[in-house]
Amino acid sequence: MRLQRLIACATVLAGAVVVSSATVAVAAPTRYEAETSPATCDGTIDTNHAGYSGSGFCNANNAVGAALQFTVNASAAGTATLGIRFANGTTTARPADVLVNGTSVQSASFEGTGAWTTWVTKSLSVSVNAGSNTIRLSPTAADGLPNVDYLDFEVGGGTGGCGSGSFNAEVTQSGSTYTARNGSRTVYTGTSYLSAINGAIGSLTAGRTSQEKVVVRAGGSIGASTVGVPSNTSLEVCGTMNVGNRSGRGAVETVNARNVSIPYLTMTGNPYFGIRVYGMNNLHLGQITMQLSGGLGIRFERDLAANSNVRMDNIFVSGAGSHAVETWNVDGLTVGTVTARNVGESALLLQTTTNAQVGLVDGQNVATGTGYGVFRLANRAGRVGSSYPTNIRVGEVRASGGGRGIFCVSESGGVVIDRITITNTGNNSILLENCYNVTIAAVSGTVSGGGEVRIAARSEFPPSRDISLRNLTVSNTNIRWSPCQGTNNTITNVTRVNSTLYWC
Ligand code: GCU
Ligand code: CA
Repeated sequence: MRLQRLIACATVLAGAVVVSSATVAVAAPTRYEAETSPATCDGTIDTNHAGYSGSGFCNANNAVGAALQFTVNASAAGTATLGIRFANGTTTARPADVLVNGTSVQSASFEGTGAWTTWVTKSLSVSVNAGSNTIRLSPTAADGLPNVDYLDFEVGGGTGGCGSGSFNAEVTQSGSTYTARNGSRTVYTGTSYLSAINGAIGSLTAGRTSQEKVVVRAGGSIGASTVGVPSNTSLEVCGTMNVGNRSGRGAVETVNARNVSIPYLTMTGNPYFGIRVYGMNNLHLGQITMQLSGGLGIRFERDLAANSNVRMDNIFVSGAGSHAVETWNVDGLTVGTVTARNVGESALLLQTTTNAQVGLVDGQNVATGTGYGVFRLANRAGRVGSSYPTNIRVGEVRASGGGRGIFCVSESGGVVIDRITITNTGNNSILLENCYNVTIAAVSGTVSGGGEVRIAARSEFPPSRDISLRNLTVSNTNIRWSPCQGTNNTITNVTRVNSTLYWC
């Protein structure tokens, strides 16, 4: 039997959930106060700013890494909604890493709320294990955390979450036994996580012309194998999928198909490719979290069929040996956020990719010691026919440490980046090499420390042209156009601090 969610008929009264029918209701979130053990606050529990709940709030020390940690209990593995109530009486946002069970899974920004007595709640979603989990907020800038009142925690709460809503087939787990069912049919029982998932996918209507959904309410290991996702399929994985390395192949593949959605997937292990794609029309990747120990996160293949209409919402990749996300041959790409931590090559690498909208590319310690960078455009990214109309738009690039920040190379361009924050990259903060029609930054940006901002040229392609560097503050690193080739490259409204300009 499927459990129905019945939010509309559940009323929360003084902490009790009153349900007006026999339908099973989903519990309200559980509140964890910042001042109450087992929460730990690297600072003081204060009471001097009114409006907090409980007996105080955490005023963490103003320092990088001065953290607040909650320990929460999850009723099941899946996607949890975090409601973090905070106040920030300054006008500067306070960024922090969000760590679940010790691994950084995303970055959050706690904006100014207007006053220390103005408390607001920020909502985030993260994947959790069943049972006890730690949720740690660790600030990444010297101002530290905002004042934090509490954490509201709920698995699968809010407007959905992994496994909510109707589905056609599901995989469940009891001890080491997996069961795959489609309606009243049991299509697999046994100890193989892979066979259970494949059984559930295989049980969907043959030749279906609209999407059917599989929910995997279980975690496990698929070994060095592949889960294939065919046309008109939605695959939601609410547990953690551990994967092995199958040479040249993806742990999850969706190829030569259409209308595929992977709304949730959390992956660990060392794949060759975490997700491998080619020949897709209409692909949606939702909340994808990859905590890897090698391999490449998401790869759109180079020498195989092209893709159209691809959407990725929030991609987090840590520990990949190669790129977090690498595209080839995509026309029509919408990306919400790519967050990469400690990844060997690029955070987001676009190649032969056109008509792309990207919200945020955020990389820390990406491409260390290599020529790659947090955001890289290469191999005719943004080239439409033989020209470069603006067709790639990026809201923001954040790069800290690692190799390069932004790297555009090999006849790419047609790109506008609104905002950048590039700090202490180990190689060029920005390198534009044989690129055309590139604007950095349409709104504002800072480059501090790290390698030079440079317009360069290799002899095999025409030199860079129509580059606009503007609205930037560049500190403690130089700006260099060299060699002196190319036309209509301009620099306007750039403030330099301890920075020399070498312009042609
Ligand atoms: C003020 C405020 C504190 C806050 C601190 C900060 O001192 O009173 O509650 O924590 O600023 O900047 O973090
Ligand atoms: Ca403080």
